[in-house]
Amino acid sequence: MNKTILITGGAGFIGSHVVRLFVNKYPDYKIVNLDKLTYAGNLENLSDIKETQNYIFEKGDITDTNFIENLFRKYDFDGIIHLAAESHVDRSISDPGAFIQTNIVGTVNLLNAARNFRKDNLEKIRFYHISTDEVYGSLKDIGFFTEQTAYDPRSPYSASKASSDHLVRAYMHTYKLPVVLSNCSNNYGANQFPEKLIPLAINNIKTEKPIPIYGKGENIRDWLFVEDHASAIDLIFHKGKNGETYNIGGNNEWTNIDLIHKLCEIMDRKLGRPQGSSAKLITFVKDRAGHDLRYAIDSSKIQKELGWKPSLQFEEGLEKTVDWYLNNETWLNNIISGKYEQYYEEQYFKR
Ligand code: NAD
Ligand code: TYD
Repeated sequence: MNKTILITGGAGFIGSHVVRLFVNKYPDYKIVNLDKLTYAGNLENLSDIKETQNYIFEKGDITDTNFIENLFRKYDFDGIIHLAAESHVDRSISDPGAFIQTNIVGTVNLLNAARNFRKDNLEKIRFYHISTDEVYGSLKDIGFFTEQTAYDPRSPYSASKASSDHLVRAYMHTYKLPVVLSNCSNNYGANQFPEKLIPLAINNIKTEKPIPIYGKGENIRDWLFVEDHASAIDLIFHKGKNGETYNIGGNNEWTNIDLIHKLCEIMDRKLGRPQGSSAKLITFVKDRAGHDLRYAIDSSKIQKELGWKPSLQFEEGLEKTVDWYLNNETWLNNIISGKYEQYYEEQYFKR
């Protein structure tokens, strides 16, 4: 069946994997990728599909109401998969403003457009909001986040995402907009901007720079390979029930320090360095303000109801990720310049 789908934030890390999956898997769909191309958006992420017939790129800002209204006038969207966001916790701590604008105001603009431009047949549209497990707060040593866990966001990033989640649900209850949501754990894989832990560490190991570990490295994250997140998004978009939320996670918890040791082992092997040499780069630095201790997702709902499961073991995914970064030096070098370099200096040396 033909559909026109708007994917926001499609030039970013997760968005580019979702756009690629949809463009290749659904040749009958028209996929419109809307992205502002902030520091985190990069069209190189989609160079392999940019000429594909069913793919269209639109540069624009989701906080710009006129632009969004015109876009909805131009295309008759059947579905919206909303990933555009400011996504880095550390940046939200040093400058929350952009997070409030993009993550909250931008989401409301899209919700309004979806509701207004399909007024007469609202049931034909589906608004799929992509969110994070960070809205649930921080866990102690035991327990998991389920879809019933009460929201307790603790960083400006997670508070802005929680706020957008609430607004999406409010538009369903108030205006009957058909919505579906998912909250996912930490993603890793190709094309992740090297401000996030895994690509930052890969780059620093490669260039023999210190690997900054916040606090004692005891914080725990549940890591999921990005293509497994994209496959879950595909399932939820097509098979998820209106009004439902699905938690997505890898059942794969690692302390930051153990993860970095594993990465060092892999990198030593791949770079032909003596085992143990990369681990010497580990440097404990001042902790992140309000650093959440542990995230862990119970993903049994999506597994039972939609039959999703992660395809990769973590070690295999990490190997693939390291290979991708080592084979895509130009991608990395284009990023490690200009504005990012300035951010890096400020984040790690001027605090
Ligand atoms: P990212 O920072 O890599 O990409 C975000 C994209 O959004 C970029 O292409 C950027 O240019 C675009 N964008 C930002 N502001 C915009 C605006 N005002 N208008 C239009 N486009 C704009 O982020 P990501 O890691 O790919 O995350 C994508 C989504 O998934 C986010 O909503 C995030 O909250 C969610 N999420 C991420 C993770 C993770 O581990 N990365 C985990 C769970 C959920
Ligand atoms: P990050 O990749 O920023 O994701 P999130 O904060 O959304 O979980 O960080 C993952 C974990 O790694 C988190 O506990 C913070 C920690 N971390 C470091 O120890 N050093 C770093 O330089 C970065 C960027 C993160």
